[in-house]
Amino acid sequence: MSDSRPILEARGLCRDVGPAKAPKRIVDDFSFQFYPGKVYTFLGPSGAGKSSILRLFNRLDEPSAGDVVFQGKPACDYPPCDLRTGVGYLFQVPYLFPGTVRDNLLFANDNITNERMAELIRITELEPNVLDRDSESLSVGQKQRVALARLLATDPKVVLLDEPTAALDPTITERIETVIRKLATEQKLAVLMVSHHPQQALRVGDEGLLIVAGRLIEHGPVQQLVNAPQTDQGKRYRDRELT
Ligand SMILES: Nc1ncnc2c1ncn2[C@@H]1O[C@H](COP(=O)(O)OP(=O)(O)OP(=O)(O)O)[C@@H](O)[C@H]1O
Ligand SMILES: [Mg+2]
Repeated sequence: MSDSRPILEARGLCRDVGPAKAPKRIVDDFSFQFYPGKVYTFLGPSGAGKSSILRLFNRLDEPSAGDVVFQGKPACDYPPCDLRTGVGYLFQVPYLFPGTVRDNLLFANDNITNERMAELIRITELEPNVLDRDSESLSVGQKQRVALARLLATDPKVVLLDEPTAALDPTITERIETVIRKLATEQKLAVLMVSHHPQQALRVGDEGLLIVAGRLIEHGPVQQLVNAPQTDQGKRYRDRELT
């Protein structure tokens, strides 16, 4: 697929929760097109709906209205497993299966070659000998990178990251940020990442999306969104976060 076509699209996504008589709209008419080779950072106050939007993209939750379109086809036309292979979701806290790192990669894809495993270890900045280590013996930063390598083992086109460094210390955060950039620049994935930190969005992101009260308020190159927002709500967010 050429880079001039979106790999993933949101069309008028809404999500209502709560009682049918008095639902609460937590995602409100979200539309956007995502292209390969870019990191999209979702910013916004706590409770804005960032995670709720992300979860709709691989059907961890279902929209109340609107569509997700992956590779030109509605997400609801894919068997959930196939959709989740194409649109991978990395959980904030890494859960690895018992056994070695190699076992974990083989569990995700039993046809994976040794070359591809070595490549995934390189991309995720792990040491080559990590393949034979027991997953339980790894640090949380290593586990998070193995979880990412395992996600990549199924060759997704889109990766969803919800605050992937929230549980990590600053040195490991830097490492993961480097890996995230590589997913877009080297692997040509579309990376959708929620972050609480505008500074992190500046380090990692290409495009920024500001979400407030379930709505997409403003989007654009992340430097512009963070440093020179165009909307009043964008300016209020910047003033609160950057001062
Ligand atoms: N299943 C649910 N039932 C009821 N309310 C929900 C449900 N899921 C999310 N919400 C509410 O929807 C709103 C958006 O939540 P969401 O977790 O998407 O926000 P967020 O932007 O990711 O916040 P944070 O930055 O704190 O992670 C919040 O008010 C939350 O309480
Ligand atoms: Mg969240």
